[in-house]
Amino acid sequence: MPTAPIPAEVRAHADELRAQLARHDHAYYVLNEPLVPDAEYDRLFRKLAALETHWPALVTPDSPTQRVSGTPAPELAAVAHSVPMLSIRTETDDTAAGALAFDARVRNALNLAADAPPVQYHAELKFDGLAVSLRYEHGRLVCAATRGDGQTGEDVTHNVRTIGQIPLRLRGEGAPPLVEVRGEVYMRHDAFAALNERQEKTGGKLFANPRNAAAGTLRQLDARIAAQRPLAFFAYGLGASQGFAVPDTQDGLLAQFAAWGFPVCSERTVAAGAQALAAFHEHVAAIRADLPFDIDGVVYKVNRLDWQARLGFVSREPRWAVAHKYPPQEAVTEVLDIDVQVGRTGALTPVARLRPVAVGGVTITNATLHNQDEIERKDIRVHDTVVVRRAGDVIPEVVRALPERRPAEAVKFDLLARYPVCPVCGSRVVRNADEAVARCTGGLFCGAQRKQAILHFAGRRAMDIEGLGEKLVEQLVDENIVRSPADLYRLSVAELARCERMGERSASKLLEAIDGSRATTMARFLFALGIRNVGERTAKDLASHLQTVEALMGADEDALQRVPDVGPIVAQSIVDFFAEAHNRDVLAALLDAGIHWPAPPAPVAAKADHPVRGQTFVLTGTLPTLSRDAARERIEAAGGKVAGSVSRKTRYVVAGEAAGSKLEKAQALGIEILDEAALLALLAAHDETENPSSQGV
Ligand code: IVH
Repeated sequence: MPTAPIPAEVRAHADELRAQLARHDHAYYVLNEPLVPDAEYDRLFRKLAALETHWPALVTPDSPTQRVSGTPAPELAAVAHSVPMLSIRTETDDTAAGALAFDARVRNALNLAADAPPVQYHAELKFDGLAVSLRYEHGRLVCAATRGDGQTGEDVTHNVRTIGQIPLRLRGEGAPPLVEVRGEVYMRHDAFAALNERQEKTGGKLFANPRNAAAGTLRQLDARIAAQRPLAFFAYGLGASQGFAVPDTQDGLLAQFAAWGFPVCSERTVAAGAQALAAFHEHVAAIRADLPFDIDGVVYKVNRLDWQARLGFVSREPRWAVAHKYPPQEAVTEVLDIDVQVGRTGALTPVARLRPVAVGGVTITNATLHNQDEIERKDIRVHDTVVVRRAGDVIPEVVRALPERRPAEAVKFDLLARYPVCPVCGSRVVRNADEAVARCTGGLFCGAQRKQAILHFAGRRAMDIEGLGEKLVEQLVDENIVRSPADLYRLSVAELARCERMGERSASKLLEAIDGSRATTMARFLFALGIRNVGERTAKDLASHLQTVEALMGADEDALQRVPDVGPIVAQSIVDFFAEAHNRDVLAALLDAGIHWPAPPAPVAAKADHPVRGQTFVLTGTLPTLSRDAARERIEAAGGKVAGSVSRKTRYVVAGEAAGSKLEKAQALGIEILDEAALLALLAAHDETENPSSQGV
């Protein structure tokens, strides 16, 4: 690399390229009107990248080479919701009774006399997409976040910016200093069909329904992918606001949203009293099949916002709103055949191939039958006429057979008889006595498991190889460049650069990431192997109790069960894994490739009086500096456990900003609450007493 000062004309050239690229980015992402063809953009981009490689001192953080385009964000950042995004209580009674019950609860809570006039409600559709919160400061969109757990969502601003329907600036004069507009991001049926068609052509993954497609798109790290998949939006609620003269009613609020330029669904009404709500429910049921998007019910809201405030919340659900659902959507069709799908862990799932049938705007062509026991319990046979159901976001399922319509040629299905060997790799299929599931024994060798096995291996919590995504793994496996995780460590830039959408620069970046992953921990490595029933926690326990891979491979079921939390099933899975010669081969090849780790931490014995070791922590809210993963890692490294919910066993609750119900529960139970500083102090004290000298590697 030249160390001489960068010549002025090089600097000027880079500046010019950056300015051009920024202009193109703006036109492409924000205006959705590219100024130049992609190839021209790529040419400029490569030119700049080449300059920056040659003169590393030229790289600035705001260079287009350093952001989303081409180099997706490593992960979605967390966004704390200052006003939580709540869920709504669901009224499942699908008759008028649902509306009556809600109205009665509202009148009662408002202390209205029996002869008081009917309550004014606002009735809306319940869109089947994803809730997002759009934050506008002085009229500009500054952040878009998913709902997440209601307290903390994910930053999807980059993708939301590509949604043409969402204004980047609020229309009209006098935008408030702050307003959060909430609503649903969804995908229309036509966009969904077009997307799946394209996916099929390009060999991409098919989405089960528009909701999954919208969710998958919104959570993309690369905004260009979202830009190619038209998402849509409806505004329906208000989050935080400052300096905003909030209208008196929900109806007025939605009118304001429309004036700012948001799409507001016109299928809505102000309804006086329960009968009017029930009429809306019935009306929507009648038009539902003709809507160009999915809904899963209607929502009733008290129209007056001051009354909403008076009604407040119970257990994190507003008392002023209710979702009134429709019964699940069912249809009748024929089972043409039953075959199996082989999953990452080798599970063979029987799948009914159906005569295509439309259910709620989506054509169903197959449905899961779960496992052999389910097939027998429901007595479903090939050529049977069956009822299939699509409920919310779940995979379609076969509800029941109609034996009265069973033809003479209907045949029972016996999975093991039909698939004695795996349809993908030809390895033996077995079914353990205690399991409902039949499995392929091909492990890392089976083609069906290979892609998933490699993806899992490269995953963030496993070997953490950044940039090795689904598309690339698919290509590498399909073209036989990579057959097992060990092959990753033999890849060359030339081989990678032959893959679609892989320039030399990304190829060498990926190789760097692969190379870097060689230095890992034993726990990550064990988890990465994808041994059935060995999750992260178990991998950590195995590493600290057995210390070496040799000891693990040599351990029999009894020895394995002496590791805390390892029972007979986990022990059996480990023994089975190492019994397969090809799994041992892959493992040896990985170690040959130079994967190494420091000695695992020694096992920690739980002691009730120890401040950290053996104690259970619960994390809630957003901590000022530590991410959840980082906090968890540090607590676990000190021998503590992190649980998902507060119980009497919880020793500490670590609460950050926008902490929610977990904090309330901890207070109610009198559990000690720590902030980040207190947690760090506790961990530091622990380090001093436990590890007076640092451990060598
Ligand atoms: S209002 C406090 N209105 O339903 C009430 N939600 O269970 C906040 N949804 O995650 C929600 N259509 O994704 C509201 N017209 C509508 C809705 C709607 C769909 C979803 C939303 C939320 C879930 C609440």
